[in-house]
Amino acid sequence: MNHAKILLIFSAIFGIIGVGLGAHMSGAGSYAFRPIHAHVSLVGWLTLFAWSMYYKVYQPKRKTLSNWQTITGVVGAIGLTMGMWFYNMNPFGLPDGVTLAFYIAGGMALVVAFLLFLLLVILEDGKKSKA
Ligand code: HEM
Repeated sequence: MNHAKILLIFSAIFGIIGVGLGAHMSGAGSYAFRPIHAHVSLVGWLTLFAWSMYYKVYQPKRKTLSNWQTITGVVGAIGLTMGMWFYNMNPFGLPDGVTLAFYIAGGMALVVAFLLFLLLVILEDGKKSKA
């Protein structure tokens, strides 16, 4: 799995959605999407981009840990932002328990991704790849 490339593609998709929501808020004159726009932009675009750069520059050797960090990172970024949208705005009229569970699961996946990232940077030697 090319972690840097996967994270970069998701980061770019989040970037488009983030600026789209920002443009929508400016045009619509309603800031209802503000927290969702903020998290799509900061978690989706910037955090995934930062992780992508880490994998590109340091090329960590621990593949299983890298795989799980990348999977939980992408799932967490999608889960948290969609969960926030469902929970705050409930566009599909889902039961409150469902929107809350989605929100919490997404947030927890993201927390796990950050913990795995911490573990990865502690375990790896921290030297930049020469390639
Ligand atoms: C086309 C680009 C963008 C537009 C039109 C836009 C528009 C907006 C608007 C209208 C708000 C609400 C402002 C308010 O509450 O007074 C906002 C909030 C925010 N935006 Fe953007 N934005 C854009 C890109 C970005 C990007 C790239 C990021 C981060 C990487 C970002 C991060 C934030 C954050 C964190 C907030 C919340 C600020 C707060 O609640 O105090 N935005 N944006």
